[in-house]
Amino acid sequence: MIEIRKIKKVVVIAKSKYLDFLSKFGVGGAHPGGINLTKEIFKSENISTTSHILDVGCGTGQTAAYIAHKYGAKVTGIDINSIMVAKATERMKKKRLPVTIMQGSIEQTLLPANTFDFVISESVLSFVHKASAIKEIFRILKQGGRFIAIEFTINQQLGAKIEEEIKQFYGFDSCFMKKDWIALFEQAGFTNIRIQKNKSISSIPEYHYSKNIEPELYELMETHYDMNLKYKEVLDYRIYTCTK
Ligand SMILES: C[S@@+](CC[C@H](N)C(=O)[O-])C[C@H]1O[C@@H](n2cnc3c(N)ncnc32)[C@H](O)[C@@H]1O
Repeated sequence: MIEIRKIKKVVVIAKSKYLDFLSKFGVGGAHPGGINLTKEIFKSENISTTSHILDVGCGTGQTAAYIAHKYGAKVTGIDINSIMVAKATERMKKKRLPVTIMQGSIEQTLLPANTFDFVISESVLSFVHKASAIKEIFRILKQGGRFIAIEFTINQQLGAKIEEEIKQFYGFDSCFMKKDWIALFEQAGFTNIRIQKNKSISSIPEYHYSKNIEPELYELMETHYDMNLKYKEVLDYRIYTCTK
């Protein structure tokens, strides 16, 4: 008898030097609109002290700390990067917040199914294998749970050269338009998908520097700011909310 084994397709995304820069500089609020946009979005969600919330790609933990402090909710943060995890853990300890920070990938977690009332991802999904991560987020949300994402979204198909430059620099495997995100959310089973844009809110990011920062990361920071100027109209984002 022939044994047929299912081999899981593993998509390897180039390691992002940009994420090294964010972690070594300890950039908090590393998403469009920053913490002020986060605060505004949560105002229209039904968060209470009994809510169990997961912050995916929590970075240095700015958002996770805010929700725990403001709403008294039960908050967990997960991030793949050990420097981010250390900085987020230190933040919770300093602020005496009962937030659990764990290291791991949202593409596949050990978290039990149907656990969270809310999952948040702020500028994370573009850096990962999107379909696996969205499927995993759906699995760990409770029935009726809400997924809130602030994610990089292009407004029109890009020329091949520009797209490649952006993908290479940030370590993305693709640049998604609104319709591409919606297709993945629907495929995972999400309903009630709403898309918003709020360009008027901005924040000043915070920094929590590591002791030793390689000179090349300073250069990378400059390139990042140059890219942001050069592709101001291209590097856009949307706020996606949906329900399991
Ligand atoms: C642009 S930063 C955003 C950080 C944070 N959400 C914020 O707004 O400040 C992206 C974060 O996603 C994390 N990340 C990347 N791949 C991940 C994965 N597979 N699973 C979990 N986190 C991941 C990075 O380490 C980084 O902290």
